[in-house]
Amino acid sequence: MPTDPYAWIEESLTTIHRADWYRSVQPIHSRPGATVLLAGQEVINFASNDYLGLAGDERLMKAAIAAIQEFGTGSTGSRLLSGHRELHRDLERAIASTKQTEDAVVFSSGYLANLGAITALVGKRDLILSDQYNHSSLKNGAILSGAKVIEYTHCDVAALKIQLIQQRQNYRRCLIVTDSVFSMDGDLCPLSALLDVADEFSCMLLVDEAHATGVLGKTGAGCVEHFGCTGRQLIQIGTLSKALGSLGGYVAGSASLIDFLRNRAASFIYTTALSPADTAAALAAINIVQQEPQRRVQLWRNVDYLKKLLQQQLPNLKLLPSESPILCFQLSSAGEALEVGKQLKEAGIFAPAIRPPTVPTSRIRISLMATHEPKHIEKLVQALNRG
Ligand SMILES: Cc1ncc(COP(=O)(O)O)c(C=O)c1O
Repeated sequence: MPTDPYAWIEESLTTIHRADWYRSVQPIHSRPGATVLLAGQEVINFASNDYLGLAGDERLMKAAIAAIQEFGTGSTGSRLLSGHRELHRDLERAIASTKQTEDAVVFSSGYLANLGAITALVGKRDLILSDQYNHSSLKNGAILSGAKVIEYTHCDVAALKIQLIQQRQNYRRCLIVTDSVFSMDGDLCPLSALLDVADEFSCMLLVDEAHATGVLGKTGAGCVEHFGCTGRQLIQIGTLSKALGSLGGYVAGSASLIDFLRNRAASFIYTTALSPADTAAALAAINIVQQEPQRRVQLWRNVDYLKKLLQQQLPNLKLLPSESPILCFQLSSAGEALEVGKQLKEAGIFAPAIRPPTVPTSRIRISLMATHEPKHIEKLVQALNRG
């Protein structure tokens, strides 16, 4: 008697529901910003990666519209065939200039940049050492590469070194991969120490600057700049979709690295080039990041203000260590996180519950924007106080 080969999907969904891991989309009916219309309700937005408030900026929208008028909506092909426009190159030059690297290449998303770079750089004979809290795109890139993957304890350089002492000689190339700002925690990787270890054991180092680009460093170049590591040899990846308010990803590094990736990264070669609108919006955003450092200053003021209020009014909140605009507090279960998220929403605050399997422990994740006003932050703390 044949069984339904798709029946397991319903069963799997039931298990997801039972564990309080079920997720669904929530519609926003307004422009991005510090406040948004979420399913018809005006809420203060602490759920966005739009750190500098650029996703709704008129200048980005104008740039996108002008690019559509000049080049149309689609780029019509992959970069190496018919998809390349000079706009792509202008964006790559602007990224390299911000990062102070020899060159950069853009991908259609940050996820694709990670998959493409990792699978091009290492293969079956190689070793990847990966921070246990790395983003999904780094983890899946590592698996896809076919290299031996070992996860090291979060931010633990001593544990990484032990693995290298034991394993390095068994492999041809070795790639250490890490988020620079950990996206679901808010802490930073120990970049200088990682670079030293990479040098000592002849490893490449790849850092994902997704949440650092535009946010950290004097000029907004990211964690590499923040830690004074500009100019050291490493592979920097990032996204155009967070502080840069657009869509797309990039790799920045030496001219030979970028040339190699253009020839070997499958997720660059075999996919349609970034759309003219996204490319132009990201380019406009990079110019603003360079010309308006006050946005970053305001973002960090907001981070400091929230931390101060939480310390004064909610000293028992279990805050995870954070050195970024991402602040998380831990809850005992997925169910509790969902309940707190719901209560916050009722109080007009949009701050999502993040649950396994995204993270090992359930939490509420708050991300701050430069465009939050003091009253928004005060209202968040009031709502948390009531919860
Ligand atoms: C650390 C990290 N890397 C990569 C990505 C993927 O970037 P994108 O959204 O551009 O695909 C994200 C988030 O989406 C992220 O948080």
